[in-house]
Amino acid sequence: MKMLITGGTVVNPSGAIASEVLVEDEAIVALGAPGSSAAEAWAESSDRTIDASGLLVIPGGIDVHTHMEMPLGQTQSSDTFETGTRAAAIGGTTTIIDFATQSKGHSLQTGFQAWLAKADGNCAIDYGFHMIVSDVNEESMKEMDVLVEEGVTSFKLFMAYPGVLYSDDAKILRSMQQAANNGSIIMVHAENGIAIDLLVAQALSRGERDPRFHGETRPSLLEGEATHRAIQLARVADAPLYIVHLSAAEALEEVVRARDMGQRVFAETCPQYLFLSKAELERPVFEGAKYVCSPPLRDYRSQADLWKGLRTDDLSIVATDHCPFCFKEQKELGRGDFSKIPNGLPGVENRMDLIYEGVSRGELSLERWVDVTSTTPARMFGLFPKKGVIAPGSDADIVLYDPRSTHIVSAKSHHMNVDYSVYEGMELHGAVSMVLSRGRVVVDGGKYVGHKGHGSFLRRGLSRYL
Ligand code: URP
Ligand code: ZN
Ligand code: ZN
Repeated sequence: MKMLITGGTVVNPSGAIASEVLVEDEAIVALGAPGSSAAEAWAESSDRTIDASGLLVIPGGIDVHTHMEMPLGQTQSSDTFETGTRAAAIGGTTTIIDFATQSKGHSLQTGFQAWLAKADGNCAIDYGFHMIVSDVNEESMKEMDVLVEEGVTSFKLFMAYPGVLYSDDAKILRSMQQAANNGSIIMVHAENGIAIDLLVAQALSRGERDPRFHGETRPSLLEGEATHRAIQLARVADAPLYIVHLSAAEALEEVVRARDMGQRVFAETCPQYLFLSKAELERPVFEGAKYVCSPPLRDYRSQADLWKGLRTDDLSIVATDHCPFCFKEQKELGRGDFSKIPNGLPGVENRMDLIYEGVSRGELSLERWVDVTSTTPARMFGLFPKKGVIAPGSDADIVLYDPRSTHIVSAKSHHMNVDYSVYEGMELHGAVSMVLSRGRVVVDGGKYVGHKGHGSFLRRGLSRYL
């Protein structure tokens, strides 16, 4: 099956250029100048022609930080692999990397197989896994090497959540040593969980129970401190480091310093830290619970620092940390005790549009938009050049994006399985028009036209950045 995408502007990090794109079966096979004799011949031999006049033709978005159906205490995140990947596709994301989790006392392989089973046959788009290591011991370290061979080439360690997912410094250092050896990359949730737990207990004993105290007990200084520590541990291990969901200026300063010294330190931020602030946690009654995530939303001033970090490449990637919980019955578990509110926000459907809004507002170039949402994620996590670029030989994961369209975000019209939107009422410039996943049209005119089970598991290679 040959398909020609004609009349559009192809955007890669290297530039934006008017170009015809020829797709054959699952892959992009050629790019050509409009009006060239080659392009005219393609038009005649193609089975289908898609008119992309006035549209941007970009590589499908890659969201490297999602949590579909992630268990948390008595509940679990409300998007399944089916609903979450469908919403992702509608929002212009054609690949997710989710987190398989090792339960304490169990092997990494058991966790990995459990997550493979949840996703298998259910995904609208391609998917891979990072592995959350919650039990660092000599056995799990050996298992890391096996997982790398199986295409899981990144591992998340937590400096937060003592007693649950937390690892102490020795454990984090030990896992970094293993990664330095097997070529994988350690991802760190950098918040000082031990200090935070003290602040939480003190707040609760003073009767401070509302959602806003979630933010007040997780100060940005403790994100900066943990980021500094993670960087030093990675330096000792001579291992690369990836800081997830960076929210605070203090943490960014640490990343900038390390990168300026030439250390292989990378960081992602998330749309919620670029567009929302801690003021949301103060919404009356219990509405603030909708905005509870960790690290917490920060003040408005840090948003400018984060946009600057994206421009200067001190921040490499925008991922969502999509971890939705419905307000009703899930966020409500924390009524009267903020520490019981499930942590996490929805956003997998909104990321491409929100970061394009950054382009509209002059924060990022068009090319950088593609870079931080697709190309660098592919390179960082061993998917390039199969994913993350419009080039011959790459998978035909293609988004046709209409830069002139506007739309208003609302839970009434979104496709994520969650009963609210943290961006409710926001007017965004730009909209997804069509999405191809490996040559199949899965979204057309805002409607999902794919089928569950189309998405395949991606065995990832090693990072291209290390
Ligand atoms: O609040 C958050 N971020 N929930 C998801 C789990 C994590 O730490 O990434
Ligand atoms: Zn985290
Ligand atoms: Zn997360």
